[in-house]
Amino acid sequence: MDSRELFYINTPIYYVNDKPHIGHAYATIIADVIARIHRVRGGRVVFVTGTDENSQKTVDAAAKAHEEVVAYTDRLAAQWQDAWKTLHISNTDFIRTTQKRHIETVYEVWKRVEAAGDIYKGSYEGLYCTGCEEFKRPGDLVDGLCPLHKKPPEMIREENYFFRLSKYQSQLLELYKNNPQFVLPTHRFPEVVSFVEAGLEDISISREGKTWGIPVPGDSNHAIYVWFDALINYISAVGLDAWMKHPTDVNVMGKDIVRFHAVIWPAMLLSAGLPVPRQIVTTGFFTIDGQKISKSLGNTIDPLELAATYGNDALRYFLLREIVLGDDGDFSRDKFVGRYNGDLANGLGNFAARVLALAAKQSTLPFAQPTDEVARTVHHTKEAVLTSVSQYRFHEALAAVWELISFGDRMVTETKPWEGEGKPDVIVQLVLILEAIAELLLPFVPDAASAISACIVRNDSTGTFTITKGPVLFPRIS
Ligand code: MSP
Repeated sequence: MDSRELFYINTPIYYVNDKPHIGHAYATIIADVIARIHRVRGGRVVFVTGTDENSQKTVDAAAKAHEEVVAYTDRLAAQWQDAWKTLHISNTDFIRTTQKRHIETVYEVWKRVEAAGDIYKGSYEGLYCTGCEEFKRPGDLVDGLCPLHKKPPEMIREENYFFRLSKYQSQLLELYKNNPQFVLPTHRFPEVVSFVEAGLEDISISREGKTWGIPVPGDSNHAIYVWFDALINYISAVGLDAWMKHPTDVNVMGKDIVRFHAVIWPAMLLSAGLPVPRQIVTTGFFTIDGQKISKSLGNTIDPLELAATYGNDALRYFLLREIVLGDDGDFSRDKFVGRYNGDLANGLGNFAARVLALAAKQSTLPFAQPTDEVARTVHHTKEAVLTSVSQYRFHEALAAVWELISFGDRMVTETKPWEGEGKPDVIVQLVLILEAIAELLLPFVPDAASAISACIVRNDSTGTFTITKGPVLFPRIS
C-alpha cells in the first residue's frame, strides 16, 4: 500500500489541429512545476495531459493535410506526446479522447446525467464557432465576428440533446461560496460568479449528423458535443472509482476556457453525483512581440526549437520568471536572450561553476554546519519560496532564489576563497548555499538543478564532500 499522499493534476487536453506552440507549452510547464513541487514534498503525483481529438477541427485539419482522419489523429497525438517527452514534462499518463477507456467513461457519465433527468431533446437554433467549438450568444461577438477567431460563427438549426445547466445555478454559487480559492488567481473568480449569478441557460450537448466524435448512447445520428466529451477526460484517465475517492486537485488552463471548467464541468459532475475538482489555476494569454500568436501572422514560436537551441531549463526559466502567473505575457527573443545571459549564464551558471571549481580543488572538504548568516539567509529564502509557491507566484519564488545566488556571489567576491591554499571554511559554506539552491530549483529548472546536485556528493562514512566540476550549464549567447 502506497502511503504517500495522492496529488492529482491535469492540464487541458489539446486540440490536434496543429503541433504545440509556446502557449500550450506554457500551460503544460506550469502543471509540471506544480507536479514536481508535490513530488519533492513526497506526494504520489498523478499528472495527466493529453489530446482532445473528437473535434471538427481534427476533421478539417486532416482534410487540409490530405490525410485520413484516424491516421492524422494518431500522427498528431504521437507528436504531442513526443513534444512533452522532449521538454522533460513529468506527466504520468497521456489521455486521448479516442481511446476506449475514455469513450466508456463518457457513456457512464452520460448515463448518470440522464438518470438525474438532466438530458432532454430539443431544437437548437443559434450561433456556433468551430474555432472555439462553442455555442455563441450575439453578445459574445464583436462586429458579428468571434473575437478570438475573427470569423463569423455558423448559424445552426438542429435537433440537439440539451443538458439542464440552469438547474445548477444555486449549487454552483454555493460551491463558489464555500471554496473561495476555487479559481486562482482570485481576480478571475468574480467573472465566473457574476456569469452564473446572471442566470444560466441549458446547453446543447450534441451535434446532429456529425460522423466524427462519440455517438450519443442509443442515438448514433448525434455526436456528443466535443466539450461535454473532452471534460470527462479528467475522469477517464484515472477511472470512475478513483475519481469518486479523489478528483482533480489542480486543473491548470488558460483563461480562455475557465467558463467550461468552472461552470459547465462542476455542473456536469453535480448532476452525475460525482465530486468536483478542488482548484482551477488559470494562466493568461501570450503574445509574441506584442502580437497575438497566429499561424497567419507566421509568428508562432516553436517551444521545441527554443529548447533545442537554449535548453529546456532556459525555456522554463523564461516563462516562469518573466510572466506573473495569471497575467498575460509577451515573448520576444530579446527578452529571452536577456534573461538567459543575465540570470542563467551570469547568475546561476556562473555561481555554480565558481563554487564547484573552488571546491573540486580542495583535497578534502569536510562537512560543516552553516554559519549563522548562511543559515539565516538560506532559511529566509526557503520561507519566501514556500510562501510564493503556495500562491503560485513562481516569478517571486525564483526572484528569491536569485537573491540567494547574489548573496553567494557577494561572499565569493568579499572573501576571495581562491587565495593561498584556498579557504576551505568559506568554500564549504558556498557548497552549502549551492546545495540549497539546487534543492529549491528542482521543480523549476530540473535539468540544471539535478546536474548541480550530482556534482555535490556527501560521503556520510567519512564526513566529507566529493565535488566534481560538472558541465557548463548555460553557455553565454552572443
Ligand atoms: N481542447 C480544449 C481544451 C479541452 S480541456 C477539457 C482547448 N484546447 S487548445 O489546444 O485550444 O488550448 C488549450 C490551452 O492552451 C488553453 O487553455 C491555454 O492554456 C493554452 N493556450 C493556447 N493558446 C494560448 C496562448 N496564445 N497563450 C497562452 N496559452 C494559450 O481549448
